[in-house]
Amino acid sequence: MSSASFGWICLLLIVFVPVIDGQLTRFTGGVNGGSDCATCSIVLGLIDKLSIVYNTSVVNTLERFCNLLPGQYKLYCKAAVDFLGPYIVDAFIKGDNPDVICHSLKICHDTAGQPKCRIYPQDPSISVPQRALDLLRRHPYINAHFKDNPKICDFPGIKEICKILDNVFNNHIPLVDLDHDKFGEEVTLRGSSWRGKDCNDASASVHPGAHVVNSDVTVDHNCNGILGMDSTSGRAYEDEFCNDTRRLGIAVLGDSISAHFHIPEQWMDAREFSVAAFEHLPFILENELDWPQMSATTGHVNVSWPNIEGDTRSLYLRLFDLDHCNHRDYQNIAVNGARSGSMLDIMKALARDPKNDVPLLVIYSLVGNDVCNGHPDTIDHMTTVEEMYKNVFTTLTYLDTVLPKGSHVVTTGLANGSMLYDLLHNHIHPFGRVGVPLTYPQMYDYLSCLQISPCNGWLTSNATLRDLTTQRAVDLSGAVRNASFTYQPRNYDIDYLDFPFDAVIQEWVAQGGQPWQIVESIDGFHINQYGHALVSDVLWAWLQKQHPQWLPPMNPHNADIERVFKDQGGY
Ligand SMILES: *[C@@H]1O[C@H](CO)[C@@H](O)[C@H](O)[C@H]1NC(C)=O
Ligand SMILES: *[C@@H]1O[C@H](CO)[C@@H](O)[C@H](O)[C@H]1NC(C)=O
Ligand SMILES: *[C@@H]1O[C@H](CO)[C@@H](O)[C@H](O)[C@H]1NC(C)=O
Ligand SMILES: *[C@@H]1O[C@H](CO)[C@@H](O)[C@H](O)[C@H]1NC(C)=O
Ligand SMILES: *[C@@H]1O[C@H](CO)[C@@H](O)[C@H](O)[C@H]1NC(C)=O
Ligand SMILES: *[C@@H]1O[C@H](CO)[C@@H](O)[C@H](O)[C@H]1NC(C)=O
Repeated sequence: MSSASFGWICLLLIVFVPVIDGQLTRFTGGVNGGSDCATCSIVLGLIDKLSIVYNTSVVNTLERFCNLLPGQYKLYCKAAVDFLGPYIVDAFIKGDNPDVICHSLKICHDTAGQPKCRIYPQDPSISVPQRALDLLRRHPYINAHFKDNPKICDFPGIKEICKILDNVFNNHIPLVDLDHDKFGEEVTLRGSSWRGKDCNDASASVHPGAHVVNSDVTVDHNCNGILGMDSTSGRAYEDEFCNDTRRLGIAVLGDSISAHFHIPEQWMDAREFSVAAFEHLPFILENELDWPQMSATTGHVNVSWPNIEGDTRSLYLRLFDLDHCNHRDYQNIAVNGARSGSMLDIMKALARDPKNDVPLLVIYSLVGNDVCNGHPDTIDHMTTVEEMYKNVFTTLTYLDTVLPKGSHVVTTGLANGSMLYDLLHNHIHPFGRVGVPLTYPQMYDYLSCLQISPCNGWLTSNATLRDLTTQRAVDLSGAVRNASFTYQPRNYDIDYLDFPFDAVIQEWVAQGGQPWQIVESIDGFHINQYGHALVSDVLWAWLQKQHPQWLPPMNPHNADIERVFKDQGGY
């Protein structure tokens, strides 16, 4: 394996494979080449579209494409172009489309008895496998490199890259955490984007959410940036400005919605390709293509990159606004693809000690993956009502062993995904805005053909199937509700609410928006930044109405804290 093709495949890998629904478990899934095939076809499709946008040859385009990427990715890309460039250029000149090229590389194939999967409209008189064979015959060198049905992660060298990504995507605690208190000082890799920044990574007793010890005169145990003595009054600042018994942290146990999955639209729309669009690629991948730092529950910054429109509003920021002593006390324990079963493992990544930490408000919200999967017999792979009830009950039981007395838990039901199809089926996918148009249903059908759809039950033009999936979601929501009211917690109180998608849409429309504008454009599946801010508005209003006593009172010393401690150490 030459390092050049290694580089090329890395590029495909990083840009699209883990991206299809942000779930690496589907890495090996699918038929006819599955996600490897989609990756190949979509990246080559982008090259094709770029040459339309730039009105230039594919050779020039390949080089331009590489120059857009940051650091090491640029080098991988250039090496790859040296190796595969002439092959791809020859194919495009002869009129072959990405479906043909990816078949010739044996990354895509047609399995007997399965439908043929194509992302490009096809002249029925042309056989893709035949053209692929012709193409390959003209290039014996390539032919020698690509044996039958290669899997991207089987290649020597790629294995290591896959392992790195695997590590990023499958670990839910900070990668760098010297004192093992599940809080770290880095930003990405489950660092402070996800959990409040640790202010001493050499001491496990120092972390966000900890109780004040000895008035935090010399050590800031809870990392809220407030410590020391006020020399004029002779009192400790924590005693003067904060009341430890009234503090409240926030955590979410959730899926890609709670983690705020988002693929920058600029990566899929050839007209918007720019150096700026790819500048933050490594950061974004290290955060699993999630944006917890801007999410409805744990958001704490605005990001001014050219990727996201809309401000951050969150439950955390509201708790902070009420009482600045809560600074940094947030944990986003959400994982792309999480369902009630996998949450039984994921929940152990939550960091809380019943004795040494202050109470926590926990949101348990799994809105789709228990009904969503890419199997053709999708209904048989959905969680049953009994399983759902048991899983939720087990999680609630576990929470009683880690949450401090005085904590609160809110569970939510599943979303109504039927709305997604209704909102988007008439729209053009960003990938199809240049060249041949591609609608959302066409994109769904392609992913579904490869059996890598994030949700066959909802992202389908089959209305019966969509209704059946929504019915199961309603039943599972009933099970969440039932478990929430049946379990008798010792250390917290609990309430349930239906996932407020309806209320969010109503609110957005009232502000003059169109409902489809709050759905992520690339995946057509998640809510975007506007949606996140609105979800936090709706949840907060619900808490204020239903459980005002759960929320801490306004701290009269917030202005004093700002005066003395400025940004309290930031994030
Ligand atoms: C594309 O470039 C060719 C020459 O390279 C030129 O004749 C043509 O007008 C250009 N098309 C557009 C749309 O700019
Ligand atoms: C802190 O708040 C609790 C509960 O509201 C109250 O009982 C206590 O007196 C307060 N302590 C101080 C030092 O103000
Ligand atoms: C984000 O920006 C808005 C204004 O555009 C501002 O009101 C808000 O305070 C900012 N939020 C944060 C966390 O900086
Ligand atoms: C789900 O949404 C669709 C509209 O998109 C609506 O027709 C249906 O009644 C909703 N179902 C439930 C259970 O809310
Ligand atoms: C639509 O889905 C239902 C339920 O899975 C199935 O019975 C039916 O055959 C499907 N219809 C079509 C046209 O595929
Ligand atoms: C709720 O749970 C109880 C006890 O396990 C069970 O009898 C009842 O049928 C459940 N109801 C629903 C709607 O799941």
